[in-house]
Amino acid sequence: MRYRKLGKTGFSVSLLALGTVELGLPYGFYRPGESGIPDPGESIAMLLAAFEKGVNFLDTAPAYGESETILGQALQEWGQPGIRLATKIGMGKSREEIRASLRESRRRLQCEVLDLVQLHNPTAEELRIGCELELLQAEKEEGGIRAIGASVYGLEAARAALCRPQVEVLQVALNLLDQQMASGILPRATRCGVGILVRSALLKGVLSDRRHCLPPQLSALADAAGRAEKWARRRNLDLPAAAIRFCLTAAGDSVVLLGIRSRQELDAALRAAEEDLPPEALEEAGSFHIPDSSLTDPRTWPAL
Ligand SMILES: NC(=O)c1ccc[n+]([C@@H]2O[C@H](COP(=O)([O-])OP(=O)(O)OC[C@H]3O[C@@H](n4cnc5c(N)ncnc54)[C@H](OP(=O)(O)O)[C@@H]3O)[C@@H](O)[C@H]2O)c1
Repeated sequence: MRYRKLGKTGFSVSLLALGTVELGLPYGFYRPGESGIPDPGESIAMLLAAFEKGVNFLDTAPAYGESETILGQALQEWGQPGIRLATKIGMGKSREEIRASLRESRRRLQCEVLDLVQLHNPTAEELRIGCELELLQAEKEEGGIRAIGASVYGLEAARAALCRPQVEVLQVALNLLDQQMASGILPRATRCGVGILVRSALLKGVLSDRRHCLPPQLSALADAAGRAEKWARRRNLDLPAAAIRFCLTAAGDSVVLLGIRSRQELDAALRAAEEDLPPEALEEAGSFHIPDSSLTDPRTWPAL
């Protein structure tokens, strides 16, 4: 496993980190008859296998159903220090509500200090005028959290987050079909010493054979993913492996958060992370970007 410094937080984290909404909530889209949430025992076994392979960074949120509880149980079973935990707080909360949310996260995760707490989906406006970052700063000074971040959608919110000095880590989406963060935001964040977490390498599973289950309104995504699959095959990769490798290479100094639900997906991700994409493949991959960002934003998709 390769490791990276996460901005100025002082954390050394694995290049591949695990996003864990998939472990706590029905998420994404499933083939007919498939169940949404894996069995908690299987999720814990998958997390322990990931720790064995050197993964040392997990992303969760109170809004992710049972995710924090499952992570807390996995960490107890693992029983060794060194796993960094990132969680979130919802927007529009009072100071007391934020304190309560952090207290509950610590209880579920069974830890005394939260390594990273991110604002969960703040808008640009909320980032400009909201007081949540000051409230988190006060929590940090009291010792309950180690670092502050923002997990955002879209360029405007990403730019607004980078204007706030409290933000030490920025979480954004980046994948073959949505490359809008690559040219402006990621280099700027790196220049500012802000750590970057890149999510949605598989665009919630669109960049896998699951694209065949997309509803007709999203056929443009399925078609683009089909073209990307032909490109991946020419490089002797399957589409998920090529998409993960694209993200790891295009994201520069970032850490890549993958939504993984099984041991097979974990093994596939670890294999994909062994190498970067060659420069000519990265250049070709630029042609898969869909300029209409509303199409690649899962919040605009019909219920799946
Ligand atoms: N606003 C926010 O803060 C926000 C928003 C979204 C996500 N996130 C974070 O980012 C994490 C990742 O979410 P995402 O939306 O970005 O998901 P993603 O990593 O783009 O895609 C995850 C989905 O891809 C499928 N998958 C994984 N590995 C695969 C493989 N090797 N082959 C085929 N399919 C594979 C899995 O579905 P199956 O198991 O069903 O195949 C999984 O549910 C979340 O867990 C969460 O922590 C944060």
